Amino acid sequence: MQQYTRISIQARARSGLAALALLAVGVLVGAAAHAIERVAPQVDASALPEQARTWAEPNPLRGNEAAIALGRSAFNQSCARCHGEDANGSRSPAPDLRRLGLGCRRIQDAALRQRCMGDADAFFIHSVRYGKQKFGIVHMPPWEGVIGPDVAWALRSFIESNPLR
Ligand code: HEC
Repeated sequence: MQQYTRISIQARARSGLAALALLAVGVLVGAAAHAIERVAPQVDASALPEQARTWAEPNPLRGNEAAIALGRSAFNQSCARCHGEDANGSRSPAPDLRRLGLGCRRIQDAALRQRCMGDADAFFIHSVRYGKQKFGIVHMPPWEGVIGPDVAWALRSFIESNPLR
């Protein structure tokens, strides 16, 4: 009886492992397909201010209307497929980007609020440049070499201009 139980547990464990392996292959294939689909946004960033040509936070284009319009166009070309049209956060599993730095708005102290926004900017830029990998699986592709700092800051400005209500 004891022997029988042990065998059946082993058999179950083995079929469980096989299912897990199959799942892992599926996830990997899916991730690889996503990883290569990077659509470079067709936008002309030459009129954006010179300060936007560096990765250094805080966002030099915050509130800049021309940057917001450009960012919207770039977003819908390159990011909307995963993050939703106009960053509306309607597509899972990609997160709703309007949540990034949301808590900063509630900070009363102006200097502290600035620091909080700067941190959120840095996180945004890092995520965009290097993408998101977990356990070697690409969830979001890296955009370094495809999107420069000016367009990245324009994207951030656009997302901020479209707040969660
Ligand atoms: C192929 C789908 C895909 C595309 C295209 C994509 N993303 Fe993502 N992005 C994701 C996923 C999925 C995550 C969450 C990854 C995780 O945390 O594991 C993510 C995470 C992020 C994060 C971090 C957000 C957070 O709260 O953790 C930022 C910022 C981001 N993406 C910005 C962008 C921008 C800007 C673009 C367009 C240039 C873009 N993404 C294009 C799928 C995508």
